[in-house]
Amino acid sequence: MIYVNIEELVKSLSVEEKIRLLVGAGLSVKVPGAAGETRAVEHLNIPSIVLSDGPAGVRIHPVRFGDKNTYYATAFPNEVTLSSTWSIELVERIGRAIGVEAREYGIDVMLAPGLNMYRVPLCGRNFEYFSEDPLLAGRLAAAYVRGVQSAGVGATLKHFVVNEQETNRRMVDVIVSERALREIYLRAFEIAIEESEPWAVMGAYNKLYGRYCVQNEWLLTKVLRGDLKFNGLIMTDWFAGDNPVEQIKAGIDLIMPGDDNTVQILLDAYRRGELDEKTIEVRAKKILELILKTPRYKGYTPSNKPDLDSHAKIAYEAAIEGVVLLKNNDVLPIPEGSRVAVFGKGSYLTVKGGLGSGDTHPRYTISIADGLREKSFRIYEELDKIYRDTVMVKWLGFDAISWFIHARENAMKEGNTYQLSWILTDFIESVAVYLTTLFISEDFLSDEVIEKAARESDVALITISRISSEGFDRKPVKGDFYLRDDEYKLIDKVSKIFHRYGKKVIVILNIPGPIEIISWRDLVDAILVIWLPGQEAGRVVADLLMGRATPSGKLPLTWPKELYEIPAMRIFPGEPRDNPQKAVYEEGIYIGYRYYDTFAIEPAYEFGYGLSYTSFEYRELLVAREKDAIIVKLRVRNSGGYPGKEVVQVYVRAPRGRIEKPFQELKGFHKTKLLNPGEEEEITINIPLKYLASFNGTKWIIEQGVYEIRVGASSRDIRLTTMITIESDICFNTNWSTTHC
Ligand code: GLC
Repeated sequence: MIYVNIEELVKSLSVEEKIRLLVGAGLSVKVPGAAGETRAVEHLNIPSIVLSDGPAGVRIHPVRFGDKNTYYATAFPNEVTLSSTWSIELVERIGRAIGVEAREYGIDVMLAPGLNMYRVPLCGRNFEYFSEDPLLAGRLAAAYVRGVQSAGVGATLKHFVVNEQETNRRMVDVIVSERALREIYLRAFEIAIEESEPWAVMGAYNKLYGRYCVQNEWLLTKVLRGDLKFNGLIMTDWFAGDNPVEQIKAGIDLIMPGDDNTVQILLDAYRRGELDEKTIEVRAKKILELILKTPRYKGYTPSNKPDLDSHAKIAYEAAIEGVVLLKNNDVLPIPEGSRVAVFGKGSYLTVKGGLGSGDTHPRYTISIADGLREKSFRIYEELDKIYRDTVMVKWLGFDAISWFIHARENAMKEGNTYQLSWILTDFIESVAVYLTTLFISEDFLSDEVIEKAARESDVALITISRISSEGFDRKPVKGDFYLRDDEYKLIDKVSKIFHRYGKKVIVILNIPGPIEIISWRDLVDAILVIWLPGQEAGRVVADLLMGRATPSGKLPLTWPKELYEIPAMRIFPGEPRDNPQKAVYEEGIYIGYRYYDTFAIEPAYEFGYGLSYTSFEYRELLVAREKDAIIVKLRVRNSGGYPGKEVVQVYVRAPRGRIEKPFQELKGFHKTKLLNPGEEEEITINIPLKYLASFNGTKWIIEQGVYEIRVGASSRDIRLTTMITIESDICFNTNWSTTHC
């Protein structure tokens, strides 16, 4: 360990060296495929450190020129799956596994987790974010960060802030009330910073109140550093903003990915007196503080051989707990060895995760069809053959699926290191998945084939897949939010025929976020949402279908009946629609269940909803007030016939006061351990008192009055309630110091 006094270190740097530290060195050379590197100061033994994406795992090239080794990384479940687990413990374990993989591949800082809000279901990067609720998002992000950093690698909260769309993301100017900004969009970052001390925060591309986030001194210095008390490093998103000098002045410590031209711009500004040495020194210290914490600075030698097998198991466990059972009309679980007719191209080319910087390059992805086969279900072979030989291969014109598998195997055998051929196969796989999920018609099976399948199978399984990507928002069209006609026809036809033979139909949703569901959910008998579950997808589905695990996921979002019932959707993605320059968050704090519950709108499925194979009883609710917290205690018992886990949710309904408030807000949650039938767990949930405060435009206020504590299995399945009284108003400044009301 090299102990260095930062002050002395900074003093031994010339101004030019300090300025160079403020600008990244471009894409990584040390770890090909990693998103960026900082600059070294050789004579002081300051190394350049490596930064890599992304939330679902380490994203680096799986092969390198002239190198016979491979560098596959685990494709963990996407964040939308992790948030559906509602499990602090599990997300922390995922974070640790990602941190260990990063460290073993020579990564010093992970550019994850994503922490923006599900303002609308169509944001193209919601798969990389956690929720519509800032408490759920903030607590899970904190768990993720603690996990990553427990491996000695840094984590980065992103994208700070109000980056809830991809359309024109680099230019759009977001206008949002300060109340909504603080209560919803900043709150998730605030909780994550308080509960995990992330090494870094990444400023977002978009503008806020007319200034780029990365050039907004009020946001970065007054709010992030002051109110949110963030002491780590602030970096830009890649190529964000348009003025490096303004970025450094506003509070950015590291401009990424960086280039020599940017160094020159800062040097010239310093020489012209536009940038003072004090500011440069303060920023350079932040980079040095971060570098001195990294494995690379501490001389760690990466193995380049992380334990991918044990991480696969952790990815599987998280994916299992992230699956949400939406419907189960007495069909699941099905007996092991059942004869299953597997429909839907997503069953054969299952989407492991989203595209863009959040993509991953795993050794494999287990499709649903392969997972069922591996776990001893009897697959209806004729159908399997049709999908594999007709749709999944011929449609692509040239046997793309097997082609790139073949190309990879060849490259492996011959040890050929043509990285291009490998990256090309990666690219083809992504394109194949993208095109397959978007364009291949499902309407190619004759009634005779389906009839025969119904006669010779016990159950039908249909997978509907979607994929989304950084850089594009999802679309309110058939094939994206809405089923395509051929998809609807497949569900309708299979259901009619299988029901005629007294057989049941299960639908698997392999999606990055909600799709339209009202028009077809009554046609089928069971619906499981696996979201984007990572590489172990097929094994997850198989084990849940046969009851080796009981679904325990809960929705981290409100599932709409119709898109335009959501206020924000009426103005998304801003004005003008085709190239929005401005996005006004007119809905204020009313996103998700805060809107649906306050205005009594019926969603397709409510926030926090999810079924199980078993049932749970809630009893003995007790609530006590401590100085700075409300303590909620209760007991939950497994009252059904299967082992299972329950997500206990605590909502608070504030009294009517001077400030208008949502009907209720999530203020605590707890996922039980696995409870066997009849087993009970005593639960204690601690709600920091300040979480009850509302922002009135200048300060935080907890208004006096009677608060209803509502405990349940979802935001609308409330099992127990009680009251607690706040005797008099309590007020805080924006930095949470107490103040007069
Ligand atoms: C991007 C993304 C960010 C990512 C960065 C590096 O454009 O917005 O999430 O970490 O570039 O790839």
